[in-house]
Amino acid sequence: HPFRILAISGSLRQSSSNTLLMNAMIGLAPSQLIFTTYTGLGDLPHFNPDLDTDHGPLPVQSLRTQIDGADGVLICSPEYGNGVPGALKNALDWIVSSGEFVNKPTAVITASPSPLGGNYANESLLLTLQMINAQVSQQMALTIPHITLKLSKDGTITDPALKQSLKSILQALQQACY
Ligand code: FNR
Repeated sequence: HPFRILAISGSLRQSSSNTLLMNAMIGLAPSQLIFTTYTGLGDLPHFNPDLDTDHGPLPVQSLRTQIDGADGVLICSPEYGNGVPGALKNALDWIVSSGEFVNKPTAVITASPSPLGGNYANESLLLTLQMINAQVSQQMALTIPHITLKLSKDGTITDPALKQSLKSILQALQQACY
């Protein structure tokens, strides 16, 4: 039966390569995976435990509902300053207390024009996701160096090896959803 996947880009940038990549992955995915794109990253208030009440801020409720309703999550994120983009880390901080990520299969992709592929952000995301008991694995994690050489501006993946890696990740994500 189909699985619902929530796709989250860690970039707020209009022509983000990570958002392009996320959309390309949605196009490559097995038909059993039904995607919803999370668009609320920029609307979340900064995490503040004082605001984390029973009926907290609406954007936070929406984030939690969307993660809760998904069988799995796909994250495609840039790296800033050798770390996770603040907006994405902020979203994860809102989930620590509420637990929607517990046992949630989560694929973690970082793409960068640099030769390291956002490896620090990738490792840091895995650390945070492990702390909140998401289901992560090496089969569902990938750093992509030189993204600008592998993804055209119209969102086509021009590198066959990358295309194959992304397909494997999507298969692993589907397997993990069972
Ligand atoms: C970057 N970039 C970057 N890349 C990287 O691999 N490691 C890093 O630490 C950083 N740091 C960083 C800081 C700032 C302020 C900017 C503007 C950029 C480059 C980054 O990977 C590049 O801009 C990507 O294109 C951003 O991803 P999106 O928005 O295209 O998805």
